[in-house]
Order: sequence, then structure tokens, then C-alpha cells
Amino acid sequence: METPPLISFARGAPSLDIVAVDELRAAAQRAFENDPGGTTAYGTAIGYVPLREWIAEYQQVAPDQIVVTNGSMQADAFLFRLLVEPGDVVIVEAPSYDRTLLSLRELGAELIAIPLEEDGVDVEAIARACEAGARPKLAHIIPNFQNPAGCTLSLEKRRRLLDLAKTYDFTLFEDDPYVELRFEGEPLPTMLSLDDAERVVYASSFS
Ligand SMILES: Cc1ncc(COP(=O)(O)O)c(C=O)c1O
Repeated sequence: METPPLISFARGAPSLDIVAVDELRAAAQRAFENDPGGTTAYGTAIGYVPLREWIAEYQQVAPDQIVVTNGSMQADAFLFRLLVEPGDVVIVEAPSYDRTLLSLRELGAELIAIPLEEDGVDVEAIARACEAGARPKLAHIIPNFQNPAGCTLSLEKRRRLLDLAKTYDFTLFEDDPYVELRFEGEPLPTMLSLDDAERVVYASSFS
């Protein structure tokens, strides 16, 4: 008997039959035609300027707040390398994306794993950890259709997390590659859009 192909739930890797190959080919063609210089020449280190402007408009932020990276995993890598030193405390969700955990462990972070509930991470458990003396530098949160649990963080919990980040002075990394995958219900505001204290670094993905 043939072994059925393995479906890995570790990555958000789409099935090849739903990758929009024809549309991607047409988009590449348009890019070469409309902006051959921009498509082939060296650009700025922070990314192709028209793309930064497009993302800025989409996210309703200023273009100079945008950095274009090779996937959101590279954004993780940049941020973690900038912020995390050996022994630094980082809050992660339990369970969470294996690559995130791997890169944080490689940097020597001390991970506090906070369980997920149906409406996202147990924010009161984060509050209790901080009240008990934990001083996280960073919290890594996957707000929509969490990988691997699939849950979505409620609006109340988004607000509570922002309060905690302000009170205990940590950075919230909102890792949001799945935000566009909603089939029903209203999208919830990003923590980035609710943030009034510059506590949030937001990453999404074209993957
Ligand atoms: C939570 C999370 N963040 C980031 C990534 C990687 O995204 P990208 O392909 O944009 O690097 C994945 C991929 O599975 C993921 O599940």
C-alpha cells in the first residue's frame, strides 16, 4: 500500500495546487515592464520604495515605519537579534511556531510559555507572571488563526496585552501571517492599530 503524503502542520506552507502561479507570473511580467530599473537594480536596504508605500497605506502608518524583509521570518530574526540577549526573558505562546522557539533558544532567551485558550493567549497568566517578578523584554504573539492552535485573540485580550506591555515595559511582537485567511466574521483590529505607546512591532507576510 502506498504511504499517503505527509501533511505538515508545523509551517503555514500552502498546498502547491493553490499557489497562484499564473497570477504571480503575470505580476512579475508587469514589474519587468513597468519598472525594469526597480526590478533589477540595487535598491535601498529597507526595501523597494513603492512597495513600502503600498504597505504603509494598507496598514495606515507612515512609509518610514516599514521595513521590507524576505518573509516575516526574517523580520523575526532582525528583531530578535536586535532585542534579545542571553538570559533575556521572552514570553511565548504554548504551543507556538517551532521556528520562533528555535531562534529564540539559539539566542539564549529564557522562555516563559503561556498557555492558549479558545480566545487566544491567557493574558491573566502573563499578568500574574509579571506581578510575581518576571520582567520580559518581548512577547511573541500570533493573533489570528494561531499556528499551530488556530485560535484568534479576542479584542479584550488585545487591549489587555497592550496595557501589560505599557505597564511592564516590554515589546509586543505581533506576528500576523494569517490575518488574510478569514472566511467568516469581522476582522479584529491589529494591536499595532490600537497601540498608543509604541509598544508593538508588527509583521505580516506575502507567503
Ligand atoms: C507564526 C508564523 N510566523 C512566521 C512564519 C513564516 O512566514 P514567512 O513565510 O513570511 O517567513 C510562519 C510560517 O509558518 C508562521 O507560522
